[in-house]
Amino acid sequence: MPRAPGRIFADGPRELAEGLVAALRAAALDHEVAESLTHPFHSYPARLHPATARVLVDIIASNVRERSLLVDPFCGSGTSLVEARAAGLRAVGSDLNPLAVLVARAKTWTAPAKRRAKLRDVGHEISGTVLAAGKAARRSGAEPGKMRKPTGFDPNARNRRLAAWFAPHVRRELELIAMTIDDMREDDPELADILTACLSAILYKVSSRTSDTDGTWVDRNVARGAAARNFVARVELLVAGLDDLAPAGGPPDVYEHDARKLHEIVPDGSAAAILTSPPYAGTYDYAEHQRLRFDFLGLRHRELDAGEIGSRRSFMAGPQGERSWRGDLADCVTSIARALEPGGVAAIVIGDSYAGGRPMYALDDVRSALTDELFIDAWASQQRPMLGAGERRSFQDRAKAEHIVLLRRR
Ligand SMILES: C[S@@+](CC[C@H](N)C(=O)[O-])C[C@H]1O[C@@H](n2cnc3c(N)ncnc32)[C@H](O)[C@@H]1O
Repeated sequence: MPRAPGRIFADGPRELAEGLVAALRAAALDHEVAESLTHPFHSYPARLHPATARVLVDIIASNVRERSLLVDPFCGSGTSLVEARAAGLRAVGSDLNPLAVLVARAKTWTAPAKRRAKLRDVGHEISGTVLAAGKAARRSGAEPGKMRKPTGFDPNARNRRLAAWFAPHVRRELELIAMTIDDMREDDPELADILTACLSAILYKVSSRTSDTDGTWVDRNVARGAAARNFVARVELLVAGLDDLAPAGGPPDVYEHDARKLHEIVPDGSAAAILTSPPYAGTYDYAEHQRLRFDFLGLRHRELDAGEIGSRRSFMAGPQGERSWRGDLADCVTSIARALEPGGVAAIVIGDSYAGGRPMYALDDVRSALTDELFIDAWASQQRPMLGAGERRSFQDRAKAEHIVLLRRR
C-alpha cells in the first residue's frame, strides 16, 4: 500500500469501523512493524503493509477463539501469514504465483533453532565457495562460468533473456550460487527452497533492472563479490526474523493454488477469518513483472500465466477483460463464503484503479459480487492520489480510494 495519507471515510459498528480506520492509518505512521520479524526479507508488488496487516490480525484475533484458522487466498509474499502466526492463529495461505509461495514459505518457516543455524551456516558456506571461485577465476584469466540449465527452460532463450540484466561477473556469481543450491536439493529440498528465496531477494540489487514493476534499465556498477556478500546478508536477515518469530505458533500451510477453487484446500465452513488482498483490477501483471525471477530461479509459471485474475494484460485485451474480472471476483467471493464458518469475518483490502481506460470502483465491485451468505459489516476507505491525466479524467469528481471491507458470514 502506498504511504501517501488521504482522507478516510468509514461506516459500520463504531468499534469495527474505527479498527479499520486505524488499519489504514497504520501504513503511513509505521516506523517499526515493516522492519520487524521476516517482513523486510523480500520485496513484492502491492504487498499488504505489515502494519495494516497487524492491526487487522489484532481485530480478528480478539474476535475468535485461540488457534482459530485464518486464511489468505491471495497470500503473495505472506504478510498476513507472518502476522497470523505471530498472533498465535493457525493460518493457511495460497497464491497462484510460484514466487509468492516460495517467499511466503521462507518467511514463515518453522524449524528448531539447530535447523535455523544450519541455514545460516550453509548460507556462509555458499557465499565462501562463490567468493573463492571468483578469486580463482581472476587468477587463472577469467574463464567463463558455467550456466545453470533449469528443467523446462530452453537454455539459449533463458540465456538471452538474462544476459541483458546482469554484468558477466555478477551473472557468474549468481549462477554458481544457484547451482550450489541445486546440488543440495536432493538431500535437503526444504533448505534448498529457502536458499532459493534468499537468492531471489537479492536479484534486483545486483541487476540492471529497477524493480519488479519497473523494467527500466539502471546502471548499478556492482562490485565483484557483491552478489555473494548480499546473498549471505539476506540469509542472515531471514534467520534473524525467523528467530524472532520462533516462539510464536506453528507453521502456516502455503499452497500454489487458484483462489477461485479455495474449497479444494480449505474445507467448507472451517475458517474463522479471511484476511486477503486480491489483485487491484488492471493494475499489475505478476506473470510479466516477475518473468526475470522465474527465468533465473527456474520457477514454472504456466498456471499463473493462464489463471492470474485482474491482470493489466487481461484489461488491455479489450472489454472482455472487465467482464472476466467481475466473474473472477464473484467466484473468489463465493469461495470465501464457502470457507468461512457461520459468523466468520473476511477482511478484504482492495483498491480502485484505472483499468483499460475506465475507472474501477473496488468497493462497488465487491458489493456486486456478494452472495446471500455474506454481508458488509463495516468498511473504511482512504483517498489515494490520481496517477496521471487519463486517470483524473476518468474518475472525474469521484475520489479514487483504497478500501478495507469487512464481510461477515451469516
Ligand atoms: C495484491 S497481491 C497480494 C499481496 C500480499 N497480500 C502480500 O502482502 O504480499 C495479489 C496476489 O494475487 C495473486 N493472484 C492473482 N491471480 C490469482 C488467482 N487466480 N489465484 C490466487 N492468487 C492469484 C498474485 O500472484 C498476487 O500475489
